[in-house]
Amino acid sequence: MKFFIDTANLDQIKEAQDLGVLDGVTTNPSLMAKEGITGKDNILQHYLDICEIVDGDVSAEVVATDFDGIVREGEELAKLHKQIIVKVPMIKEGVKAIKYFSDKGIKTNCTLVFSAGQALLAAKAGATYVSPFLGRLDDISTDGLQLIEDIRLIYDNYGFETEILAASIRHSMHVINCAKLGADVMTGPLSSIDGLLKHPLTDSGLAKFLEDAKSFNV
Ligand code: E4P
Repeated sequence: MKFFIDTANLDQIKEAQDLGVLDGVTTNPSLMAKEGITGKDNILQHYLDICEIVDGDVSAEVVATDFDGIVREGEELAKLHKQIIVKVPMIKEGVKAIKYFSDKGIKTNCTLVFSAGQALLAAKAGATYVSPFLGRLDDISTDGLQLIEDIRLIYDNYGFETEILAASIRHSMHVINCAKLGADVMTGPLSSIDGLLKHPLTDSGLAKFLEDAKSFNV
């Protein structure tokens, strides 16, 4: 399973990268706005800064919603750096654009996916990644994990190569359950990765080992 971090915060990306298990980064317009990044040049520079930190795929989202606009923005983003993945919303014009990008060898992440039908369309169009938003489904009392399971089944039935990028991860149990269901990638906050580390028996066991090691007199 690949680990992506879902943030535009450079410090958090560095911290996850330092742990040595980071495979990529996903961003979206809300995450970029949260960092106070404004203006086209600053936004493009921020993507470049992220690519400098992490050696892996970096999703950068288009904000156009018409085919020509998505293609224009996506081609510009793809040209910026070889690690950039063009993130395109699951709308009709987005599906057309994903097919266009796929034919041109430009990698895409189809975002805002909330149903198996949408995921099937994204794969048919040739998306590199599909992003089902697990947490946002859970937020409205709908089983996000069931969607991951359904997409896995459909993709395996037909050998689709589109990678399932479990998005909108809220906590470490989401990560573990997505891994059990065979999601190819997870993207979540740093806390969802850090939480995998923690176990009280590890802490108490280490404390005892260190206590007993004092008798070594080294
Ligand atoms: C996916 O790529 C999105 O950026 C993200 O996972 C959305 O998560 P949220 O529901 O926590 O905003």
